[in-house]
Amino acid sequence: MAEQSDVLVIFGITGDLAKVMTFGSLYRLERRGKLSCPIVGVASDSWTMDDLRTHALAAITGTGVEVDDAVFDRLMDRFSYISGDFLADDTYNRIAAAIPDAQAPAFYLEIPPSLFGRVVQHLSEAGLTRNARVIVEKPFGHDLASAKALNDELHTYIDEQQLYRIDHFLGKMPVEDILYLRFGNQMLEPIWNRRYIQCIEITMAENFGVADRGSFYDPVGCLRDVVQNHLLQVLSMVAMEPPAGVGTDIINDRKRDVFMAMPPADPGHYVRGQYDGFLDVVGVAPNSTTETYCALRLDVENWRWHGVPFFIRAGKALPERVTEVRVVFRRPPPLPIASSRAHHPSPNELVLRIDPDPGARLQLVAKAADGQGFRDIHLDMEFSDEGGDGPTPYEELLSAAMAGDKDNFADQNAVDETWRVVQPLLDNPPPVISYEQGTWGPAEANRLTKAYGGWREPWLGA
Ligand code: BG6
Repeated sequence: MAEQSDVLVIFGITGDLAKVMTFGSLYRLERRGKLSCPIVGVASDSWTMDDLRTHALAAITGTGVEVDDAVFDRLMDRFSYISGDFLADDTYNRIAAAIPDAQAPAFYLEIPPSLFGRVVQHLSEAGLTRNARVIVEKPFGHDLASAKALNDELHTYIDEQQLYRIDHFLGKMPVEDILYLRFGNQMLEPIWNRRYIQCIEITMAENFGVADRGSFYDPVGCLRDVVQNHLLQVLSMVAMEPPAGVGTDIINDRKRDVFMAMPPADPGHYVRGQYDGFLDVVGVAPNSTTETYCALRLDVENWRWHGVPFFIRAGKALPERVTEVRVVFRRPPPLPIASSRAHHPSPNELVLRIDPDPGARLQLVAKAADGQGFRDIHLDMEFSDEGGDGPTPYEELLSAAMAGDKDNFADQNAVDETWRVVQPLLDNPPPVISYEQGTWGPAEANRLTKAYGGWREPWLGA
């Protein structure tokens, strides 16, 4: 059993991510009795403890939580704050002095990735990395070469087992659920392969633009922002073999097998779109060709998946906010039991909805009530009907990192392999095609899925 972290040090506690995610997650962990150690916030702002308290309260309230004073006080009692430059030795001397008894510290870096290496170097030089965990935010590199360089730099000071790379999709319950549904249901596993499955469609649609994140988003684009990380992680959970045995890395090793079986993506099966109005967003270059939408085909060349395309599409300013995985089974042969033209049943589909309302839908075929043909019927289940208020992704991941559970963090293999797979798309991007806001992106994307029945309209729930 891994050792529980005995102190959490958060670099960048005054920043936006802390405001939007971290304080709220820590509050919820405190409320559930899941916090047991002191927390040290570090940032360059000259905040007093009163300032920290005021900001924390505003941040937690801002997440829509009704604050219980006793829980909030307990959380604040854990906190201390160090104001210092991330690149000054003195800051690390003061951190060391603040945590003299720490045996297993966790350092959470909510700071620009360009600083990861130097902060970890300082931690190491101050003697703070022994038996420590380092939790880093995305993005981890912006292509294969930069991801490898960052890995090498960090591995100079800490080993891979100490590094926890956050991909918040891996903290989403319905993403974790993919493995439970696949391997907990005897009826699914025998048909989860190329003999029965025609294709897989993964959709991540957002019905809003990049808002005030123009300067972040413009150099990044949709492929790097959500496909290389979030959606390839989801794909790997849909495609992986069952984990064998117990222990660290078991899940990540099976994901690695999937990534390694994926040939580099083909730019001929890649469509990029940009919503009208993106160029007017503050922080976006006037002639930017960054994609806010992308659609692509990927393949997994192994015994289970050979010949089954994995289609992924993701985009901003689309008509709905919905993320789903859709497994499209092979079409059964036509049956002469229906005398009308509609005697060829459509393929069964299994939809696993990740956002906004987790659920599963099974599309079956039955007799049309008013005729002789077939009709599609749906068995729908919304998971919120089945269980209460589960932990949020950041709650889940911070708590897992402090417990030393690495299953839900991207390892080096995943980072290297996913960048390798998408690299040809970065090297040879097709021209970007503009699309109207509130539509499903460029019509050109339909060519990718045409032979497989097209993009299915996502399941939007009740
Ligand atoms: C982030 C991306 O990683 O994920 C954003 O940077 C995106 O652009 C967000 O909107 C989506 O996450 P969620 O959990 O809101 O679906």
